[in-house]
Amino acid sequence: MYESFPDICWSARKFCLEAAAFGVSDYSKKVLEIGFGNGDFLVHLAESYGTETLVLGMEVSAVCVLKAAKRLSSGKISNARVVLGDARYLLEKCVPPSSLDAIYMNFPCPWPKNRHAFRRVTEGRFPESLSASLTEGGKFTLVTDEEWYALEAREKLSLSPLLEIASFEVNPALELTTKYGSKWKAMGKSIYRLTVQKKSVDRDVSTSHQPENPEDIMAMHSKLFISDPKRTKQRAEELVGKTGAAEKFHWSFKAVYWSSEGHALLKTITSDEGFEQTFFFRLVFLENECLVKLEDAGAPLHTPAVRLAMEAAVGYLSDEPEQVFQFRG
Ligand SMILES: C[S@@+](CC[C@H](N)C(=O)[O-])C[C@H]1O[C@@H](n2cnc3c(N)ncnc32)[C@H](O)[C@@H]1O
Repeated sequence: MYESFPDICWSARKFCLEAAAFGVSDYSKKVLEIGFGNGDFLVHLAESYGTETLVLGMEVSAVCVLKAAKRLSSGKISNARVVLGDARYLLEKCVPPSSLDAIYMNFPCPWPKNRHAFRRVTEGRFPESLSASLTEGGKFTLVTDEEWYALEAREKLSLSPLLEIASFEVNPALELTTKYGSKWKAMGKSIYRLTVQKKSVDRDVSTSHQPENPEDIMAMHSKLFISDPKRTKQRAEELVGKTGAAEKFHWSFKAVYWSSEGHALLKTITSDEGFEQTFFFRLVFLENECLVKLEDAGAPLHTPAVRLAMEAAVGYLSDEPEQVFQFRG
């Protein structure tokens, strides 16, 4: 996906690096759509804002990202980029303060059950990352078919000292009806549009929003001295099925694949407060050494859970028993 559309489709890591340079970007404006689905609205944004504006789309579905990348490429749309990743995490960790002129979210998954509430995009620290990311006067527009969702978002966002509710409309005339919009309209449901604006920032209104330094995100590999490569390779096999967690950071080793040269790829899934990533560690076996590196192709963000997974793999592969981590599962 990243190799096929390198200029359109960004990994979360690439997004973090590009976002850090937003301040010196050639684009006069930057806008974001969260959860773009089939990409109809993203294309509409790219066309209606024009080529001076960079239009970003964030999606957790790899299928949607790939489809949108194909569509943007075949439509020769040069001012849009799609990113695979959880918008809540990317907004909080990668987007520099006051860098987005507008943020749109159409028909987010509502997750109506209480036990799933943490999955709602508007939950948790979203109000803070939203208000920090927007420029002064920048707007967040939420369109949904669920009244309770719109009201809940209005209440949560109105508590932010940096945001004010600009409007709350029922069945507004939409500039473009998305796939889900058409579906709910055909069922006769009402549509709600909430628009929130970032206030002019007073000097005494501070925010704790602190994006990660992308330089810190980049370097991650370990070298182990091993006395018995055969035994270490056996330990690599034994990693499969192991899982671990610390606070809200989880990791799990899913599979190991061997190359004809005797090196391995360790398939790993991590979750940082719900931000999931699937990627590989490359295990390179040399005479008395084993290098454990993050495989570049998956381009994961180097989050706390990825670091924990790395430490766990290294600990388990190591000859030093005291370095072996405790595993659950
Ligand atoms: C109901 S669909 C709406 C799609 C599209 N906006 C539309 O109106 O047709 C919700 C979309 O949000 C995406 N999504 C859910 N949670 C997300 C998150 N935390 N970050 C980014 N995208 C998310 C889902 O993968 C899905 O494509």
